[in-house]
Amino acid sequence: MTALLPASRTADVSTTAGAAQSVRLDDVERSFPLPQGRRDVLRGVELDIAAGEIVAVVGPSGCGKSTLLRLIGGLDAPTRGSIRLDGIGVADVDERTAVAFQEPRLLPWRTIAQNVELGLPRGTARRAGRERVAELLHLVGLEHAANQRPREVSGGMAQRASLARALARNPGVLLLDEPFGALDALTRLRMHDLLLKIHAAEPTTILLVTHDVEEALYLADRVLLLRTLGGSDDDESSIARTVSVPGIRPRDRADRGLADLRADLLEGLGVDTHHRITEESR
Ligand SMILES: Nc1ncnc2c1ncn2[C@@H]1O[C@H](COP(=O)(O)OP(=O)(O)O)[C@@H](O)[C@H]1O
Ligand SMILES: [Mg+2]
Repeated sequence: MTALLPASRTADVSTTAGAAQSVRLDDVERSFPLPQGRRDVLRGVELDIAAGEIVAVVGPSGCGKSTLLRLIGGLDAPTRGSIRLDGIGVADVDERTAVAFQEPRLLPWRTIAQNVELGLPRGTARRAGRERVAELLHLVGLEHAANQRPREVSGGMAQRASLARALARNPGVLLLDEPFGALDALTRLRMHDLLLKIHAAEPTTILLVTHDVEEALYLADRVLLLRTLGGSDDDESSIARTVSVPGIRPRDRADRGLADLRADLLEGLGVDTHHRITEESR
């Protein structure tokens, strides 16, 4: 049956759920029509992400980071180019991906466990679902909060519940849009290690949008630097740079090589780190 559908609308979840998936973007563009003309937000995006890879996306506000995640999650469609997960085109609101945002977006009248349950794939048997929710609550350290309501828990706990809900779908690709951006600095550091633990425990590919270059370098195999497209004479790609991050995880946050990459990326973001670098190299 499904073989008769066009490839771009086929998403056979049953054969692929539970395994990390590769992501491939070919010449992806997204533009929005304006009253006069149109606004190009993403252009010439070429991306090849291996199954299980962690890729961070950084770039100035408004450059299209969330748009890129929405495209990969099937929440929006490109105006040109193709997006494939494990070689199969992304379908509308693709079941193979799950998204978590900066705000946890939990339903306030449901318990933490019930919120996580909402992420289970449709048709999950009751008992299997209960076991899966318990397993995920354990993974994110929320067993003790299973019966609490979102307003009764801290921001960090709510965000852990949001991650567990996303994982409940067994996504081949986990899309995270500034997931730690609203947390205090210490909680954020703890969440980094939780994300690495999740990545080791649950087979998934991760795309992480962040404004925190250090977070990107601590967590990712590669960091994409996106740029804001210019006017009509600008025909360069949205991807300004791709940086491979050396070293196996967990990384040393104080690593010298990472400090150089950090300065590099910040410079790419328009932050002048020159003074600091010359001081350090004395
Ligand atoms: N539906 C839309 N219609 C028109 N413009 C949009 C739409 N969605 C996003 N944009 C524009 O696309 C640009 C990129 O947005 P976004 O991807 O949210 O940026 P980022 O996440 O990098 O801050 C912004 O200038 C935004 O105004
Ligand atoms: Mg955004």
